[in-house]
Amino acid sequence: MGREMDNFLTESEKESIRETVAAAKQGIDKLVDDFYTRLFDLEPSLRPLFATDLSDQKKKLVSMLVSIVSLLDKPEQLLVAARALGKRHTAYGVSREDFEPVGNALIGALASAAADQWDFDKEQAWVHLYSALTAEMLSEFS
Ligand code: HEM
Repeated sequence: MGREMDNFLTESEKESIRETVAAAKQGIDKLVDDFYTRLFDLEPSLRPLFATDLSDQKKKLVSMLVSIVSLLDKPEQLLVAARALGKRHTAYGVSREDFEPVGNALIGALASAAADQWDFDKEQAWVHLYSALTAEMLSEFS
C-alpha cells in the first residue's frame, strides 16, 4: 500500500464523478436496467450469479453510488471498503475476468444516463475510479 494516496483521483475527476452520480440518480430505474442489459449482453454467462429478481440490485447500485461519492474525499476509507467488498465478491462466485465486462457495462450505462453531459473527462474519471476499486477488490482474490 502507500501508492493509492498519490495516485487517487484528482479534484476535477472527483467533480466529474459527483456530477455523473447526481445525473444518474435522476434516472436510476433506467440506468439499472440498462446496466444489466449491457452486462448480460456482453457476458450472458454472468446471469446466474445474480438473483432472478434484479429489483434489489437497484437499491444496491444506488447505495453503492452514494457511498462512493461520500467517500471520495476519504480515499483510505474507500479503499478499505473496497477490500471488504472484494472479500464478499469471492463468495458471490465472481472471478477476476468478470471485472472488465462489469466495468464496461457500468460506464456504458452511466454515459448513456448522462447523455449530452458525458464527455471524455467524465469517462476518464470513471475508468480511473473503477480501476482503483477493482485493484483493491482483487487484492482479496486468490
Ligand atoms: C468495482 C467493482 C464492483 C463494485 C463496486 C461492486 C459493488 C457491489 C455491491 C455494493 C454489492 C452489494 C452487496 C455487498 O455489499 O456485498 C454487490 C453485489 C454483487 N456483485 Fe458487485 N461490485 C463490483 C464488481 C462486481 C463484478 C465484477 C461482478 C461479477 C459479475 C459482481 C457481481 C456481484 C454479485 C453477483 C453480487 C450479489 C448480488 C445479489 O445479491 O444477488 N460485482 N456488488
